[in-house]
Amino acid sequence: MAFAITQTCCSDATCVSVCPVNCIHPTPGERAFGSTEMLYIDPKACIDCGACADACPVDAVLPVDRLPDGQREYARINADHFGRDLPGEAGTPARSGPNFHDWGEPSFDRVLPPDFGPLRVAIVGTGPAGLYAARDLLLHTRAEVTLVDRLPAAGGLVRYGVAPDHPATKKVGESFARFLTHPRARTYLDLEVGTDVTAEELAAHHDAVIYAVGAATDRRLGIPGEDRPGSLSATTFVAWYNAHPEVAPDAVGLSCERIVVVGNGNVALDVARLLVCDPGTLAGTGIADHALAELRRSKVREVVLLGRRGPEHAAYTGPEVLALRHLDGVDLLVDDHDPRIGAAIDAAGAREKAGALRGLAREPVDWSLPPGTSGRRRIVFRFLSAPVEVDGGARTRAVRVTGGTGELEIPAGRVLRAVGYRGVAPAGLPFDEATGTVPHRAGRVTGRPGTYVVGWIKRGPSGGIGANRVCAAETVGSLLADAVAGALPAPAGGPKAFRRLVRRRRR
Ligand SMILES: Cc1cc2nc3c(=O)[nH]c(=O)nc-3n(C[C@H](O)[C@H](O)[C@H](O)COP(=O)(O)OP(=O)(O)OC[C@H]3O[C@@H](n4cnc5c(N)ncnc54)[C@H](O)[C@@H]3O)c2cc1C
Ligand SMILES: NC(=O)c1ccc[n+]([C@@H]2O[C@H](COP(=O)([O-])OP(=O)(O)OC[C@H]3O[C@@H](n4cnc5c(N)ncnc54)[C@H](OP(=O)(O)O)[C@@H]3O)[C@@H](O)[C@H]2O)c1
Ligand code: SF4
Ligand code: SF4
Repeated sequence: MAFAITQTCCSDATCVSVCPVNCIHPTPGERAFGSTEMLYIDPKACIDCGACADACPVDAVLPVDRLPDGQREYARINADHFGRDLPGEAGTPARSGPNFHDWGEPSFDRVLPPDFGPLRVAIVGTGPAGLYAARDLLLHTRAEVTLVDRLPAAGGLVRYGVAPDHPATKKVGESFARFLTHPRARTYLDLEVGTDVTAEELAAHHDAVIYAVGAATDRRLGIPGEDRPGSLSATTFVAWYNAHPEVAPDAVGLSCERIVVVGNGNVALDVARLLVCDPGTLAGTGIADHALAELRRSKVREVVLLGRRGPEHAAYTGPEVLALRHLDGVDLLVDDHDPRIGAAIDAAGAREKAGALRGLAREPVDWSLPPGTSGRRRIVFRFLSAPVEVDGGARTRAVRVTGGTGELEIPAGRVLRAVGYRGVAPAGLPFDEATGTVPHRAGRVTGRPGTYVVGWIKRGPSGGIGANRVCAAETVGSLLADAVAGALPAPAGGPKAFRRLVRRRRR
């Protein structure tokens, strides 16, 4: 009965390498891999061996006949990717056997010469990018790896960003954890490079340093009132519900009825979902106790997702919209204030951005009325509207937006800016202010031999967890090539001396 890939897929392609019949696509070698929202299983070629389900770090692969409610569409979504009918449907050809594929020439780009001494590599940051890089080094070479993170828990955004109602995605942290305690790895948490130890000290004790520091802050809107009390970045809100040590438990109050979330990327959808879902479903997840208590007290009845462009350009991915559609007790509405919105939705295919909204209620919203009183909560998608001001006195009262014939006000007691994250310049490294990234070539930091970048600080703040795996492969490939070419500066000390240095600093 074939397997299907479902909502939590983070496109890390672990399953691709274990499938005996190569029926999972796109593969990292295929052009579509760079832009795909998830991977798909060809139901016609799958031989039901289950190897992909065992290998998947986020439990995204399930037998089609055991898909739970809310994930059933994924049988169709997987089949559609290959233009197949579902098994049992009229016109379905009998399974025709494995989908044999030209695998191309094998590549051995992780092999160091046998007489090569162990490399000593420091990795700053234990998010997905840092841990995929560590995995590559530890599994494919004899390198000794020093992992450093400024926070008390490892995992980066897997720990402090991924929503608590995505426990399967959080599970990827478990598969990463084994690299933190690998016999050739040493992990230092609560240690900030640039403060507790300098970049120069780290470099002086290792052959190479990889910066995997992510994008620690948020993009700004640059509009009046953006910093008014009640206007908050999604970065802070997400950190609050994930018990980030630097966000106070009382940083967020939910005593208003309507919240406007600016942006319609997956972070905006995470935030909207958490705000309107039944808090009972969050108990027992990793959500912070203070956030669960506040969500139980919450007066929020409506969340408005504000997109400055049309639905065909929305930043969310289809699986995350599907998750919203399955929320109990929550209505979804598209504000039909401009004929271009409905036209874009009607014209879109099911797998296009606008197509994800097909079948949802559509009507113009009268913003002078309070949010609905039906007892159900509501998410409103409002497109073609950019914020121009956060209005109010000592508190946020409304958001002034463009749209239709002019500007209008959407009354709201809180505004959450989910307009993207932004990298912070790592001490001692060149930095491109325009993109918030460190300039590099294939992961090699420009003008700094022996220094590398990976993940969001290298590519900018986009892409799911799995995208960092391919990114890490490129960076580690560059590092190993430089090692073999003798292009790494010789360090003055080694990891033991570094350990002593850290001990001294912590006294
Ligand atoms: C709110 C949110 C939810 C997400 N949910 C999903 C999801 O459900 N599925 C999915 O596939 N993707 C999701 N993503 C995307 C995914 O989290 C990112 O692709 C990924 O985390 C980027 O990895 P990174 O290692 O570059 O950065 P990060 O994960 O941010 O890791 C950077 C690490 O570096 C450390 N660090 C920074 N500076 C220093 C320093 N000076 N010294 C020491 N350590 C330092 C930080 O503490 C952090 O641990 C989400 C992203 C966000 C923002
Ligand atoms: N479940 C998951 O898999 C998951 C969950 C969370 C995050 N992630 C991933 O993490 C990455 C980051 O997500 P993100 O949501 O932070 O970023 P994002 O996908 O880049 O979305 C940012 C949103 O902000 C809007 N925006 C930017 N500047 C704006 C401005 N000045 N005014 C109004 N709107 C503005 C963008 O609109 P424009 O498009 O018009 O610029 C877009 O809608 C993404 O790759 C995402 O898929 C994945
Ligand atoms: S069940 Fe087996 S054959 Fe089917 S997709 Fe998974 S690994 Fe491939
Ligand atoms: S998360 Fe990775 S292993 Fe799991 S289905 Fe997606 S690509 Fe395959």
